[in-house]
Amino acid sequence: MKSIVVLVGSLRKDSINGKYAHALGKLAAGQFAFQYIDMDLPLYNEDLWQSPPAKVVALKEAIANADGILIVSPEYNRSLPAVTKNAIDWASRPFGQNAWKGKAVAITGASPGAQGTAAMQSQLRSSLVILGTAVMGDPEVYISFKPELIDADGAIANEGTAKFLKGFLDNFDAWIDRVK
Ligand SMILES: Cc1cc2nc3c(=O)[nH]c(=O)nc-3n(C[C@H](O)[C@H](O)[C@H](O)COP(=O)(O)O)c2cc1C
Repeated sequence: MKSIVVLVGSLRKDSINGKYAHALGKLAAGQFAFQYIDMDLPLYNEDLWQSPPAKVVALKEAIANADGILIVSPEYNRSLPAVTKNAIDWASRPFGQNAWKGKAVAITGASPGAQGTAAMQSQLRSSLVILGTAVMGDPEVYISFKPELIDADGAIANEGTAKFLKGFLDNFDAWIDRVK
C-alpha cells in the first residue's frame, strides 16, 4: 500500500476541504494509507531554523518518507490560502534541503463557487513546478462543493462522482509508479 501525505489547506473545524480530503481517504482504502498533516504551523520565519518547530520537522520528515503527496486546498481571493503556501514554503527550506524535490504530487480542492478552486490550482502548480515536484497534470479535479456531496458516513455520496474521483486516485497511483 502506498503512503500518501495529505496537506489540507484549511484549519477550519468544518472545512469542506477537510471533509473532501477524508472522503478521498475512504475511497482510497486498501490502495493508499493517508497521513493527514497538522497544518497549524507557525508562519515561515527563517530565524526559526535555529531551533526548528517540531511540527515543521514532522512535515519535512513525512514528505521525505511518503510515496506521494496530495494537496487539498481552498481558494482564497483567486489564489492559495496562506495555510497551504506556508506549508509549501517550510518544506522547501533550509536552502539546499528542499523536501519537495522529485516527489510525486497531486492537487485538488473544493469551493462553494462554480469554478471549484481552478485559479488556486493554477497558481499552486507554478510553485510545485519550481520546487522540482512531479505534479500530476491529468485529470484536473475542481470540486464545486454542495453539502450533499458527502454522506453521513463522510463518504462521497454520488456514485458517478465517486467513480470519477476513484479514477483520479488510480491515475495518481500510476503516476507515482512512473515518477519512481
Ligand atoms: C479570505 C477568503 C477568500 C476567498 N476567496 C475565494 C475565491 O477566490 N474563490 C472561491 O471559490 N472561494 C473563495 N472563498 C470561499 C471559500 O471557498 C470558502 O470559504 C471555503 O469554505 C473555504 O474552504 P474550507 O471550508 O475548506 O475552509 C474565500 C474565502 C475566504 C475566507
